[in-house]
Amino acid sequence: MVNTANEQGQQQQDQEQLRPGIKAPKKETLLTPRFYTTDFDAVAKMDISPNEDELRAILEEFRADYNKKHFIRDESFNQSWENLDEGTRRRFVEFLERSCTAEFSGFLLYKELGRRLKNSNPLLAECFTLMSRDEARHSGFLNKAMSDFNLALDLGFLTKSRKYTFFKPKFVFYATYLSEKIGYWRYITIYRHLEEHPEHEFYPLFRFFKNWCQDENRHGDFFDAVMQSQPYTVNGLVARLWCRFFLLAVFATMYLNDIQRSGFYEALGLDAREYDQYVIKKTNETAARVFPTILDVDNPNFFNRLEICGKNNENLNAIDNTNAPRAIKFVRKLPYYISNGWQFLNLYLQKAIDAKAQRGVVR
Ligand SMILES: [Fe+2]
Ligand SMILES: [Fe+2]
Repeated sequence: MVNTANEQGQQQQDQEQLRPGIKAPKKETLLTPRFYTTDFDAVAKMDISPNEDELRAILEEFRADYNKKHFIRDESFNQSWENLDEGTRRRFVEFLERSCTAEFSGFLLYKELGRRLKNSNPLLAECFTLMSRDEARHSGFLNKAMSDFNLALDLGFLTKSRKYTFFKPKFVFYATYLSEKIGYWRYITIYRHLEEHPEHEFYPLFRFFKNWCQDENRHGDFFDAVMQSQPYTVNGLVARLWCRFFLLAVFATMYLNDIQRSGFYEALGLDAREYDQYVIKKTNETAARVFPTILDVDNPNFFNRLEICGKNNENLNAIDNTNAPRAIKFVRKLPYYISNGWQFLNLYLQKAIDAKAQRGVVR
């Protein structure tokens, strides 16, 4: 099993925290799941009439609550996980923690939106409240899985202690749309892989992904419909530039995170790079249905440059794990920071694909 230098540093940090009971939240970095807040009044004042029918149809889907009885632990969980080797267990617990945090972050944002829009925009409010119901189930289910390893995330503490990133509503729409759709592709890809290779299913959580990912897909469709109701978010040059930015930010974050954690995917019988490249291609294709522009991820430059950033991050982590004084560390890190900035700039400026024109052709 792969155990890179930077994973060893991570391991040290994890071992301090892998104690029975409540798990201390991980140190925040640029790559950890974020918590968001927004301009609630601006969302409340949004006129959704240009796409109200579609939003009502999605609300009916949310009300139908197809997964009401899905997140119930069956007897397959009633066994001991002692036989899992230490590396797999550690990586899996980290996966659970990151996923639980991400799901919980969605829960908090949607719940607050549901609460704040109740009187001013009841249709959107109910959609947000029902999505927060789904996210609460998802994060609860993951936290329960952590308890099988004698750990739990203190979600109340997380709510209070995390820093919240403020995003204007349109940025919340881009970011959450993409994270819902990428979540869908991540879950369904793992599910389908394990369906074909059940010998790699080391814990029963993954078989829940089939219905689970449909929740994420519906959430993504909701944000698609919201953006269509606000034409300025998907039309014009400014929208094109922001959509490109968010696609790149979301794809790069996932790729750089996952190649650092290739051991987890290996335990599932997956190659982290192939898995991520597939998920990114699929999410990019999906985004073409609503975003005016998507990225040319088939250009070999795209993943090559992300690979360079991955190497830079390995070097940055290695420098972090030395005992050198801060100033020296900074000087050593500088070239890697500059290289990362350069790669991102190049990726951002790489010729994009006109999704809108493509949609025109298909029709
Ligand atoms: Fe979710
Ligand atoms: Fe979701």
